[in-house]
Amino acid sequence: MLDPTASTDVFRVRGGEPLRGTVRLSGAKNSALKLMAASLLCDGELSLSCVPRIADVPVMADVLRGLGVSVDLDLHAGTCRLRPGKISWHAPADAVSRIRASLSCLGPLVGRVRRARLALPGGDRIGARGIDLHLRGLQAMGATVTELDGEVEVFAGELHGAYLTLDFPSVGATENLLMAAVVAEGESIIDNVAREPEIQDLCRMLVAMGAKIGGIGSPTLEIEGVERLGSTSWETCPDRIEAGTYAMAAAATGGDVVIERVRPSDLTLPLIKLRAAGVAVEEGADSLRVKAGDLEAVDVVTLPYPGFPTDLQPQLMVLLTQALGTSRCTENVFESRFSFVTELRRMGADIEIDGHHALIRGPVRLAGATLTALDVRAGAAAALAGLVASGETVVRDVHHVDRGYADFVQRLASLGADIERAPLESLDG
Ligand code: EPZ
Repeated sequence: MLDPTASTDVFRVRGGEPLRGTVRLSGAKNSALKLMAASLLCDGELSLSCVPRIADVPVMADVLRGLGVSVDLDLHAGTCRLRPGKISWHAPADAVSRIRASLSCLGPLVGRVRRARLALPGGDRIGARGIDLHLRGLQAMGATVTELDGEVEVFAGELHGAYLTLDFPSVGATENLLMAAVVAEGESIIDNVAREPEIQDLCRMLVAMGAKIGGIGSPTLEIEGVERLGSTSWETCPDRIEAGTYAMAAAATGGDVVIERVRPSDLTLPLIKLRAAGVAVEEGADSLRVKAGDLEAVDVVTLPYPGFPTDLQPQLMVLLTQALGTSRCTENVFESRFSFVTELRRMGADIEIDGHHALIRGPVRLAGATLTALDVRAGAAAALAGLVASGETVVRDVHHVDRGYADFVQRLASLGADIERAPLESLDG
């Protein structure tokens, strides 16, 4: 059983091997978890496929069971069947603390039973991560919001459509407001929404369940509320962040990798930046071939989709330590997402932070060190840095990586990486 809190294992990585071969990817973490939450709106059964074998999925299943959904999850087959029963509006206390994505139960709960009570999600290593946009949007739809004892309670005697403009195209707020609006009275127009492929996946699944949504993929969603949503079967979209991670790993190690089950159009900006850095990228209908070249410095700014994804920033940072020249990376989405730089500096990286800009000078020879996986993406990037470095790198707290990457060690090893998962005690021997 994958447990996101177990941190006894480490990765032991010996660098220097270029990655070669083919890797086939899973469904997207940041879609699957929301598709599961949308089951709260279903008047029948929701059957999901290509559900990734990551630690957050069984936790989300537990959260939904606690809310009255029967969940039949088969991680090996990548399937999940969800059938809501009597819905409870009070989420299990530890739910949100275990995974932030359980916050995406807020909108569907308010939509379905006009009420929801969840623990307030605190911030984490990458930022304060407020939920004011979620709550303000629900208030505009007629809900009242009360915060007490570290929890937020939302109640809507009547839930009606509204015209909303988000201050920022927040992924989480878009998902919650969308999932409330699809069963609210009347029409909603939500402007400046997030357009990520995972949002589009959710929209399309809701339409397959009977929702009326226009403007999918555009900055404005137009939603006509319906009485109820029905059953459907849905295949989770490919994980573009997982794909981007393997692409960066191939390029940083001087390798040649084919990535299967990916939609290249989901990665337009990252592929533009990889090519600008001297990497050869061939696009297939649902595959990518990434072949390393002489790496050159590039400048990148992270932005909401279709901008460069913040979830590929730490991995890109590793690649840019190997590029000739000075690259500038600007983080615009999460205010504390440069904490990974401290880890990279342990290995000899030459990175200067100036507010939300990082100047990365390269190429430098990274030396193996003991690193800590600070979060899902920084953890994956720490392993990538180990693949590039001389000597051995040990990555601790790898439970963070388990939360977002299926079979990470096995897949890298299948590409020729010298990496293993070992118990913490193995370091004593
Ligand atoms: C989702 O987080 C993803 N998580 C994140 O992936 C991803 O980095 C992020 O979107 C941006 O793409 C999941 O889908 C589970 P936001 P979310 O709401 O929804 C501020 C990973 O590694 N904001 O778009 O929390 C917020 O503080 C994770 O897989 C408010 O201020 O992201 C942040 O600075 C990490 N008030 C920014 O907006 C609000 O009400 C973006 O947040 C909402 C957001």
